Amino acid sequence: MSGEQELGSVPVALTVNGRQYSLTVEPWRSLVDVLRGELGLVGTKTGCELGVCGTCTVLVGGDPIRACVMLACQADGMVIETVESLAAEGALGALQEAFRNSHAVQCGFCTPGFLMLATALLRSEPAPSRQRIREYLSANLCRCTGYAGIIDAVEAAAKPS
Ligand code: FES
Ligand code: FES
Repeated sequence: MSGEQELGSVPVALTVNGRQYSLTVEPWRSLVDVLRGELGLVGTKTGCELGVCGTCTVLVGGDPIRACVMLACQADGMVIETVESLAAEGALGALQEAFRNSHAVQCGFCTPGFLMLATALLRSEPAPSRQRIREYLSANLCRCTGYAGIIDAVEAAAKPS
């Protein structure tokens, strides 16, 4: 699009995974839609699009947010982290390695959301108990794994207390 603002669209500035973007988007578009559709960051998935399943979880200002129920324009000026940020230069991050080693991934659809939710947990609580991991991750849904592998992975990635 040229520098002229489209009728009904709003300018939005986002910092995503350390990179700055200036966009013009319709005010009704969700953050996940813009991340995927405009920025090409398709690691973040959409499931329910109702704020229930958590598969669209990204970090906004360091907090886990369901990007399907946040408008892109609400994120104006915010720092956003998506699952792509976990794999520096294409190499899996420690938490991703733990998911792989613990067989925490089956279809993988929920995985980006769980990874970002767990990232937020381990930043604020580097050595959570297994019960705490279970409680925190209960915000997100997985239809395949039975959760045990996911809990194992986050426990493995946590620092010993
Ligand atoms: S797709 Fe966002 S919570 Fe389900
Ligand atoms: S691995 Fe399939 S939904 Fe979680």
